[in-house]
Amino acid sequence: VTPDPAAPPTSAAATTAAERVVRLTLPGHAYDIVVRPGLLDDAGPRVRAVTPVAEKAVVVRDLNVPAAALARLTGSLSRAGFAVTVVDYEAGEETKSWEWVGRLFDPILRARIDRRTPILAFGGGVTGDVAGFVAATALRGLPFVQVPTTLLAMVDASVGGKTGVNHAAGKNLIGAFHQPSLVLIDPGVLSTLPPRELRSGLAECVKHDLIRDAAGFARLEQDVGRALAGDVRYLTELVAHNVAIKARVVEADPLEKGERAHLNLGHTFGHAIETVSNYDYSHGEAVALGTAAAAKLSADLGLLDEPSRQRVLAALGKAELPTAGLKLDVDAVVAAMAYDKKVAAGKLRFVLLDGIGKAVVRDDVPAALVRDAVASLRS
Ligand code: GLY
Repeated sequence: VTPDPAAPPTSAAATTAAERVVRLTLPGHAYDIVVRPGLLDDAGPRVRAVTPVAEKAVVVRDLNVPAAALARLTGSLSRAGFAVTVVDYEAGEETKSWEWVGRLFDPILRARIDRRTPILAFGGGVTGDVAGFVAATALRGLPFVQVPTTLLAMVDASVGGKTGVNHAAGKNLIGAFHQPSLVLIDPGVLSTLPPRELRSGLAECVKHDLIRDAAGFARLEQDVGRALAGDVRYLTELVAHNVAIKARVVEADPLEKGERAHLNLGHTFGHAIETVSNYDYSHGEAVALGTAAAAKLSADLGLLDEPSRQRVLAALGKAELPTAGLKLDVDAVVAAMAYDKKVAAGKLRFVLLDGIGKAVVRDDVPAALVRDAVASLRS
């Protein structure tokens, strides 16, 4: 008998991991983030529960997602009574653009959606950001469901309602906050994710523990190899742990007026590295380098002691992420940082580590130390 590629996962590890639900509560809006291997096959009733009278559903599908996984999602939606329109999207930083959002609107509006129609983002972080922007703006706002398929999107981008596209002047400069109504995470799909993509997501896991959870960081230092080995039970716990950290930060500051900025640890450096490298570095690789630079800056300012800085570098190394060997021109990276949208009143603001597990924001960092931090990545 040929195995049915669309069948749910049957490995013991996949079927025995328990379901984890993290609730994110904001004024006037709350949603569940559900994590369980095999969840794709039960997506339909979950989406039905948050859109009880919708007749249609639109799935914006990242072309990197295997057809078998798409069939599981659309099959479950159809069984729950949705007439499903699938819109293909060639996800990438280059297609995360205003022009591509425009192209996605054509098939979506031709499908005669109405205000009840949920838009589902099925793919990585870029797909979630772009589909979320479509959901935020089509008919002035539609229900939105995130079904992330990369570790990066599972632990970060799918939670918290940031949507948008890039502009030539910088990343994510056009967008809107539009919270999802539901986030469905099936860690079983990570078994088909390229290893480089998995490592990219681990950069955000390291970040979450560094800014909020010293004990979590100590566990991650020990166990991160289990993620690289594709241990689905561990990945389920890891994703649940990380979405819980992210959810608490977003609840405290949904519009990033204060502490949500802590989630940008390593990202001011990282976005500049991504842009100057023309995206040769993946997001996670750039964030890992950026986190190493932020740790150096934290140490130079007397916030982080040297053994702790070494632990940061070692944890990123265990996740097989880069912390050195940067080939880019230091001045070009520093110049690109000035265009980052996290600039407040002309000053660069940095998220720094006041020890492992605690983040602080500083906007008084001497330019020479910033340059030193970037230069330290070349060694
Ligand atoms: N990825 C950072 C945030 O959602 O705020």
